[in-house]
Amino acid sequence: MPEPIDLIAAARDVRENAYVPYSNFQVGAALRAGDGRVFAGCNVENVAYPEGTCAEAGAIAAMVAGGQTSLTEIAVIADSPVPVTPCGGCRQKIFEFARPNATITMATTDGLKTTMAVADLLPGAFVQAQMDRA
Ligand code: THU
Repeated sequence: MPEPIDLIAAARDVRENAYVPYSNFQVGAALRAGDGRVFAGCNVENVAYPEGTCAEAGAIAAMVAGGQTSLTEIAVIADSPVPVTPCGGCRQKIFEFARPNATITMATTDGLKTTMAVADLLPGAFVQAQMDRA
C-alpha cells in the first residue's frame, strides 16, 4: 500500500499558488477526505476585499467537487510566527464535513505545528438541531 500523502507537505505546496496581492499573506490547506483522497486549496483574494476566500474554503470546495462530503484530517500552513488558526467562518465550514474524531494541524513554514480536535476548535457550533421547532 502506498504511504499516505503528508497533508502539511500538500498544504505547503498549494500555498505557493495563493493569490494574495492585498494581504501578501499566503495560506495553504490540505485535507484527507473520507475515501482517503487529499484535496488542497489556497487563499484567493479579490479587489473587493470581502469576496476573497480562505485556503480552507478552497480545499473544502475541491473536496465537494470531487464527490466527497467528509474529512478526517485537515492541515493549514502559513508563514506566520505561530501556527495560523482558521477564521471563525472556516471553523464552521470545516465542522460541517468533519468526521467525529477529525483533527486539524496548524503549521508554520518554519516547522512549528500544533494539532487539535476539530470539535475543540468550535465549541458551540451552529448545528441543524437549532433550526428545529420545539
Ligand atoms: N486566511 C486563510 O486563508 N486561512 C486562515 O486560516 C487565516 C486567513 C487568509 C485570508 C486572507 O486572504 C489572508 O489570509 C489574510 O487574512
